[in-house]
Amino acid sequence: MAAIELKLDHVSKSFAKKESKSVINVLQDINASFHENEFISIVGTSGCGKSTLLRLVAGFINPTEGKIIMNGEEVTKTEPNRGMVFQKPTLFPWLTVGQNIAFSLKAQGIYKENAERVDEMLELIGLADFKDEFPARLSGGMAQRVALARTIINQPDVLLLDEPLSALDAFTRMNMQDEVLAIWKLRKQLVLMVTHDVDEAIYMGTKVVVMDKNPGRISKIIPIELDYPRDRTSKQFVDYRIEILNTLHFGNK
Ligand SMILES: Nc1ncnc2c1ncn2[C@@H]1O[C@H](COP(=O)(O)OP(=O)(O)OP(=O)(O)O)[C@@H](O)[C@H]1O
Ligand SMILES: [Mg+2]
Repeated sequence: MAAIELKLDHVSKSFAKKESKSVINVLQDINASFHENEFISIVGTSGCGKSTLLRLVAGFINPTEGKIIMNGEEVTKTEPNRGMVFQKPTLFPWLTVGQNIAFSLKAQGIYKENAERVDEMLELIGLADFKDEFPARLSGGMAQRVALARTIINQPDVLLLDEPLSALDAFTRMNMQDEVLAIWKLRKQLVLMVTHDVDEAIYMGTKVVVMDKNPGRISKIIPIELDYPRDRTSKQFVDYRIEILNTLHFGNK
């Protein structure tokens, strides 16, 4: 795959408060560069602006100051090459699994020449037998797999995951961590994943971005220098956990 560069250049975002004329500074002066082959885990306490950061990169909203630059071009709107998956699988209940996955190809008018990609996606997520089922018949983990497939069928250069696994039970979640990593390894696109789970961040990420709040900012970017698959019980893993918890002010130090 071609080189990918996502640059956050002095990005700030504020919102007007509804009840008064003041504004809240949600993100302040975010600077970072991310590239292909990187799996970036983002952790930080509730309200520090993680979802806002992903929504900015997706192009749903624009920065108040600064720029988001993707491969040299400023991001101002959504594009299929920056795909987002949300915490709750947002499937269309009136469409089958296959139709949900095909949806964006149809919306872009490129379905006919790419129809076989729907079956490839179904194979990839292990749900080929569920192609004609409706979402109501799926478990939470299955529904989230379909939501993932629906996004990666566009072969996005940047995959944005906003707590994609946090609605799942602990065992499904650990299996899904491996599945998401397997999908990432196929194309090695850039992934930005928000999670509340420090272990998940370390288990999956090539780097962990630790954020602080009021205003939201990056306090540390920690490269995780461990081979995959990672051992959650190894000393190095636990050392990373301690470092991240300390940076989040939840440690002993
Ligand atoms: N459209 C908006 N209008 C006004 N305020 C907003 C808007 N979107 C987000 N905010 C505020 O920005 C702050 C950060 O929100 P955001 O959803 O990015 O946090 P988060 O880190 O994702 O939190 P959580 O971990 O709970 O999901 C919050 O105080 C929120 O109320
Ligand atoms: Mg959020």
